Amino acid sequence: MKLLVTGGAGFIGSNFVHYILKKYPDYQVVNLDLLTYAGNLENLKELENNPNYKFVKGDIADFELVNNLVKDCDIIVHFAAESHVDRSILDSEEFIRTNVIGTHTLLEAAKNNGNKRFHHVSTDEVFGALKMDDPKFNEKTPYDPRSPYSASKASSDHLVRAYFHTYNLPITISNCSNNYGPYMFPEKLFPLFITNLIEDKKVPLYGDGMNVRDWLYVEDHCVAIDAIIHKGRIGETYCVGGDAEKNNKEITYKILELMGKGEDMIEFVKDRPGHDRRYAIDFSKIKNELGWEPSVSFEEGLQKTIEWYKNNEAWWKDIKSGEYAKYYEKQYGK
Ligand code: NAD
Ligand code: DAU
Repeated sequence: MKLLVTGGAGFIGSNFVHYILKKYPDYQVVNLDLLTYAGNLENLKELENNPNYKFVKGDIADFELVNNLVKDCDIIVHFAAESHVDRSILDSEEFIRTNVIGTHTLLEAAKNNGNKRFHHVSTDEVFGALKMDDPKFNEKTPYDPRSPYSASKASSDHLVRAYFHTYNLPITISNCSNNYGPYMFPEKLFPLFITNLIEDKKVPLYGDGMNVRDWLYVEDHCVAIDAIIHKGRIGETYCVGGDAEKNNKEITYKILELMGKGEDMIEFVKDRPGHDRRYAIDFSKIKNELGWEPSVSFEEGLQKTIEWYKNNEAWWKDIKSGEYAKYYEKQYGK
């Protein structure tokens, strides 16, 4: 099988490329990535000499390029996106360009090349925010995105479904909850807090710290996508979650404990505008149809993640001292 993976140099995409080539060594992977601030070829260094892996630097919104790459693949697995909510609040233009126009460009190329199989990697944020006693999100939950990021992802999901209904494009969609694990860019909660603590810096907790997310170890997300691209029903959406609802305060205390730091390292900062209170996923559809469920417990995943950041200081120190430093200053001050 020949896969065109978009955004394979980012957090989840690079974990997916490693996972797929390990599980199916005879598959071929072409990784199309623009290498924005979030894309990093260091994540894929071990694959540089693998004859079944090829990297192409380019933009998913470049139709000519995408059309040529799509010609030669059996399936498109689409991760590429602007993915950070706080950045979308500062400036949303790139979110619309990549997440909406980029996805549309890929869909057009898939349609023009004999209706190629298309898997779209999306998020639970398209469903909006839950109250504490609301039932979890499932595939029938109405869309209610509330940030420029989630609105752009919702828009891309609608386009993907429209191509299925209008052109019979063989699509599937996964809406996944919060991931964590290796190669996660240190602007997101887990890597930011872990690396700050390694550097003996405080951790910025938004608002009252009581917002809830449903955490999934990244490799379990890769297993879910593997199941969907091989066994998923065409035209269907699958909700993927970690069965690990935690509030940010709980997570922060757990990280502090595992890293031997005290609560004096917490700095309560201004809340994120429009901060969604709670996300949680009911993943019974993918469990019943495809036999998928999370396999890594939150405790195990957190330990592994802390270890990874401790053992890969060069990876994140480079990032934290580069272009990212400017964003960090804008967001949190010096
Ligand atoms: P990321 O920001 O770490 O990586 C995104 C990758 O896309 C980067 O390598 C970047 O260079 C590339 N990219 C951006 N714009 C591009 C363009 N125009 N053309 C080509 N490449 C481009 O993101 P992530 O956290 O790995 O998320 C991957 C996907 O999974 C996204 O679609 C996101 O919405 C979705 N998702 C993420 C999470 C999560 O917790 N991180 C959870 C559910 C779903
Ligand atoms: O739910 C899936 C989504 O999860 C993905 O679609 C997004 O791409 C991904 O970035 C993630 O979005 P969140 O906004 O939930 O993740 P983030 O790591 O930015 O924040 C997690 C929680 O922690 C959220 O409630 C905000 C809070 N937070 C975050 C940061 C960066 C803080 O309290 N302080 C921080 O410094």
